[in-house]
Amino acid sequence: MQVSLHQCASELFQCFDLSFLGDQPRAMAAGGCDVNASYDIKHLLKSDALYKYILDTTVFPREPECMRDLRLLTDKHQRGIMQSTPEEAQLLQLLIKIAGARNTIEVGVFTGYSLLATALALPKDAKVVAIDVNRKDFELGLPFIQKAGVAHKVDFREGKALDRLEELLAAAEADAAAQYDFAFVDADKQNYGRYHEQLMRLVRVGGTIV
Ligand SMILES: C[S@@+](CC[C@H](N)C(=O)[O-])C[C@H]1O[C@@H](n2cnc3c(N)ncnc32)[C@H](O)[C@@H]1O
Repeated sequence: MQVSLHQCASELFQCFDLSFLGDQPRAMAAGGCDVNASYDIKHLLKSDALYKYILDTTVFPREPECMRDLRLLTDKHQRGIMQSTPEEAQLLQLLIKIAGARNTIEVGVFTGYSLLATALALPKDAKVVAIDVNRKDFELGLPFIQKAGVAHKVDFREGKALDRLEELLAAAEADAAAQYDFAFVDADKQNYGRYHEQLMRLVRVGGTIV
């Protein structure tokens, strides 16, 4: 299965018929929702007020404190716009749980918001191989991952994704058991076609590439 997380999260929320609420969403959103301005340009919903309502009533209440703290810290980062939105992270968790994934890959870690979401969604003895060219940003988020008690699930690999994925492929060829159930790609869009080719060989038949 291949999924675009961003589109899928927005379309999923658009499926809810909230017309019975009348003006309530607008009123609640106007009433002090703490939404980072960067989200406004990232979501696909037609109404900012509806988006804020969904965040306030559905997404933020389900966000663990460790994820919230990391998200708020990353919002202040110069390139904070790169972090996944909270509803994307929750959809990612849902997909991981539905798939029953244990052996996973993330391409594009940044400060680790989606990585923390993944690590929390995985079973205790599962793993996520997390790839990014920039270790410094990963280290900003690492204390949150450690505090959440899920650092043992994270195998961070610094470097270009094409190279790191090639190494995973070599390991998978040597050991047929070294196959993956799930992969999330969120980096370097020019190379998506090449990541797709590598991941089609790394992720087992019936696995999920997002
Ligand atoms: C959109 S951000 C990832 C956001 C992250 N998934 C989150 O939820 O916060 C993209 C990341 O990809 C990394 N990156 C860019 N080009 C890369 C490449 N060729 N290989 C590996 N990582 C790369 C950047 O350093 C950056 O941290």
